[in-house]
Amino acid sequence: MTALADQFQISIDWRAERALVSGRGYCLLLDDAHVIPFKVTAIKYRKHDATGEHLSAKKINHNESGVINISMAEPIPVNAGDVFDIVDAESGATLGVGVFEFVLHRATNIRWQHLTVDKKARAELKQQRACCIWFTGLSGSGKSTIANLLEKRLYDKKLHTYLLDGDNLRHGLNRDLGFTEADRVENIRRVAEVARLMVDAGLIVLASFISPYEAERLMARKLFAQGEFVEVFVDTPLNECEKRDVKGLYAKARRGELKNFTGIDSGYEPPTNPELHLETVNQSAEACVEQIMALLDLN
Ligand code: ADX
Repeated sequence: MTALADQFQISIDWRAERALVSGRGYCLLLDDAHVIPFKVTAIKYRKHDATGEHLSAKKINHNESGVINISMAEPIPVNAGDVFDIVDAESGATLGVGVFEFVLHRATNIRWQHLTVDKKARAELKQQRACCIWFTGLSGSGKSTIANLLEKRLYDKKLHTYLLDGDNLRHGLNRDLGFTEADRVENIRRVAEVARLMVDAGLIVLASFISPYEAERLMARKLFAQGEFVEVFVDTPLNECEKRDVKGLYAKARRGELKNFTGIDSGYEPPTNPELHLETVNQSAEACVEQIMALLDLN
């Protein structure tokens, strides 16, 4: 029987060079025509190449197969055993092949509760426009310094804010996460969801995370309404960050005592189209804050 649902367990053969990572978004190609985005909500297991044994995993690598749970952007009609291609959201390139196993019924039974006091009402009460200012850049680039100064400026204007910071959140909500690609994807997914809830509460949210991958920054952006997500690229060259090395982490990474360090043995993809590109080498943090205030029309 055909089911209309939006969450499924599927088995996959992964063909792309870049691993499939839990939390990341891809697209599914239905009937050779409909491209529907989905998110990987869990990797149940990956299969051992030779023995087929089920192994726990946070990603599925090139030419591996496994079983995952997915959440679709919209409900789709499917039958168990249906085969489809998984494609890249931007390029349309085929990344793998999936087979539907079963509907996660939980998904079809949860309905969104409509509430009378909404985001607009909450923000109006605070006499402000809620938004998320998302700072991205290398460790030591100055994200948190600028975000802190900006929060002070907004506070002085009696605006209601909250600052979400990588180092702080990794002590609580995200203390189970490290710095592998999969953990960083999950880190950003969680903080973007938290930021969205806070914007819904009517706040001006300042989010300061390395957020090294374009895909997750795009994922975060898509959680917000048009104009609500303001991406600020804090552009400080690696050699400058390394020279400052406020926390001594670059030195540790160079000595091989810290693995997967951004800029050393873990990548950073600079934003291609941020709302604001701050070059910090020739201007003070205060000057950077003024640029953000102007962009927000709060001067
Ligand atoms: S992110 O990549 O997942 O966005 P996040 O912003 O939360 O990272 O955390 C980065 C902070 O963690 C850095 O400012 C630094 O203090 C600390 N840190 C510890 N280990 C690493 C590492 N391997 N790579 C980057 N930052 C690290």
